Amino acid sequence: MKGLILSGGHGTRLRPITYSQQKQLIPVANKPILFYAIEDVIECGIRDIGIIVGSNKEQVMETVNNANFGAEIIFIEQEAPLGLAHAVLISEEFLRDESFVMYLGDNILKHGIIRYIEHFRQSDADASILLTPVDNPSQFGVAELNGDGSIIKLIEKPKEPPSNLALVGIYMFKPIIFDAVKRIKPSWRGELEITDALQRLIEDGFMIDSEIVHGWWKDSGKPEDILHANRLVLDDLTHEIKEKEDVKGEIRGRVSIDIGTKVNESSVIKGPALIGTGCVIKDSYVGPYTSIGNNCKIINSEVEDSVIMDGARVVSAGNIVDSMIGRDVVIEKNKYLPKGNKFIIGDNSWVRI
Ligand code: DAU
Repeated sequence: MKGLILSGGHGTRLRPITYSQQKQLIPVANKPILFYAIEDVIECGIRDIGIIVGSNKEQVMETVNNANFGAEIIFIEQEAPLGLAHAVLISEEFLRDESFVMYLGDNILKHGIIRYIEHFRQSDADASILLTPVDNPSQFGVAELNGDGSIIKLIEKPKEPPSNLALVGIYMFKPIIFDAVKRIKPSWRGELEITDALQRLIEDGFMIDSEIVHGWWKDSGKPEDILHANRLVLDDLTHEIKEKEDVKGEIRGRVSIDIGTKVNESSVIKGPALIGTGCVIKDSYVGPYTSIGNNCKIINSEVEDSVIMDGARVVSAGNIVDSMIGRDVVIEKNKYLPKGNKFIIGDNSWVRI
């Protein structure tokens, strides 16, 4: 079996972060979202992986190559985000006659995918999808099931959802899917939808299995999704202070602090919280569900329930909550006249003061 992981698209709902960073590289608990997908696929024993890349392809390729996953990873260029079925179509040469799992690179699934891949390998199904109940089904692909669990219909982002069962972004396919993706037309949003290709297989009498996922699943499309995913991952954080002599402040609960990070005696860190390497935490409070990347400075400030990316500096900034702070961002108290709030922020940023 091979793996196809999607890391293209524009990530417009995550602007301004995605102006400079490919969406799937945004860190959740200090790890690019994309790595969760790659690790899940490798964990199933799959060694041949194709990653779909788009406009920020160099960034994705460099980040993945530097991580040395120990698998055969190739990159497949998609000229524009023309749909999930389009991604399958352009990967035919790589996937050839093999079954494959397609994993959307912005999805995170708590318990990985081994159990679903095993079921699929042992079944006669031509494709298998994963489903989960959601509160807002209109924002996803939705399945209508019979009483016996078999699929009646799959619809992409329906205005009137026939159920609350959303398609999770992980699909298992036999090569018959290539016939289906070649026969569908772009949807109202101009994309070749994988949901339509699956619907075509159902209508042609092929066997599509479905399973309800165990544990949480997160599609990290919007800033609040990233913060939510961060909380979910940090719920399983292991307590580990790498260099105890550098951590002098008060540590409560499960906290992970990497090497080269200094925490002074008047700081308080309350877990679950994760802090990368080379940071300085001085006279500050780092509260639950916060991930701080590498080489950040948090000085005389309070930070809680937030994702702070590499190189950010937060100085005398008051109390920061529920925030995503990009790489090398500076937030500091204005010491100069005229008094007031000063901003140098990019397009589509938003600030609540
Ligand atoms: O997350 C689950 C949902 O994913 C499913 O319920 C939907 O049925 C499915 O269509 C998909 O919906 P989204 O609207 O969330 O898909 P999105 O456009 O966000 O793309 C998903 C990922 O795939 C994202 O990481 C970007 C990448 N992508 C997307 C397209 C359209 C590509 O690499 N190439 C593409 O052409």
